[in-house]
Amino acid sequence: MITIALSKGRIYKETLPLLAAANIVPAEDPEKSRKLILDTNQDDVKLLIIRATDVPTYVQFGAADLGVAGKDVLMEHGGEGLYEPLDLKIAQCKLMTAGLVEEKPRISSRLRVATKFTNVARRYFESRGEQIELIKLYGSMELGPIVGLSDLIVDVVDTGNTLKANGLKPVDHIADISSRLVVNKAAMKMKHQQISAIIEQIGAAVA
Ligand code: ATP
Ligand code: PRP
Repeated sequence: MITIALSKGRIYKETLPLLAAANIVPAEDPEKSRKLILDTNQDDVKLLIIRATDVPTYVQFGAADLGVAGKDVLMEHGGEGLYEPLDLKIAQCKLMTAGLVEEKPRISSRLRVATKFTNVARRYFESRGEQIELIKLYGSMELGPIVGLSDLIVDVVDTGNTLKANGLKPVDHIADISSRLVVNKAAMKMKHQQISAIIEQIGAAVA
């Protein structure tokens, strides 16, 4: 049995053609089904439908053999227990710091940064020698600077429309982001033949 962890939405949509190249076709559409485990055209391949942020955790602990996760999510997770054999070049965006277009004085003595990427933000500002105060959020980070919760945010930016619509501007580029295929390290050994065939077929489709 091979299990592949995926999140609904853009990753699922953009991964579908790549899975098809490995002859893996889901039996149901996760956007329409309430099921969390989906059958595929192959009896021994199942899909787990989970939150994007949870994909590295499922794969790390071997609850899924493979997964597709954004590099942002992988940087935040740390990558323990995972191989990252393929850049799928999908869901491309940038991880950035952003702040108000109309800059305001600092909220407190230390720079306040609101983000769901607290590990990434801590490492980034540490590497620049800046002491910050971190505020953990789970979404809608763009609100932070508007309502005086934080001076800056760390979030993914694609078109920049969300920042613009909320009176924010990108400040610093942290990393270029795309989604990666990740593999549980033990599964890579135990199910080597099956997993390497999938990696090869998906890799050819990406290229
Ligand atoms: P969760 O549900 O766990 O909070 P999420 O809502 O961020 O996660 P998605 O919006 O589906 O999940 O994003 C999945 C991945 O797609 C992100 O980790 C990121 O790598 C990438 N991504 C996010 N926003 C964009 C965007 N606007 N354009 C392109 N890629 C994006
Ligand atoms: C993501 C992200 C940003 C936005 C950036 O949100 O959280 O808010 O995209 O994209 P842009 O630069 O093109 O505006 P998404 O639309 O995925 O909604 P989410 O909050 O559910 O993740």
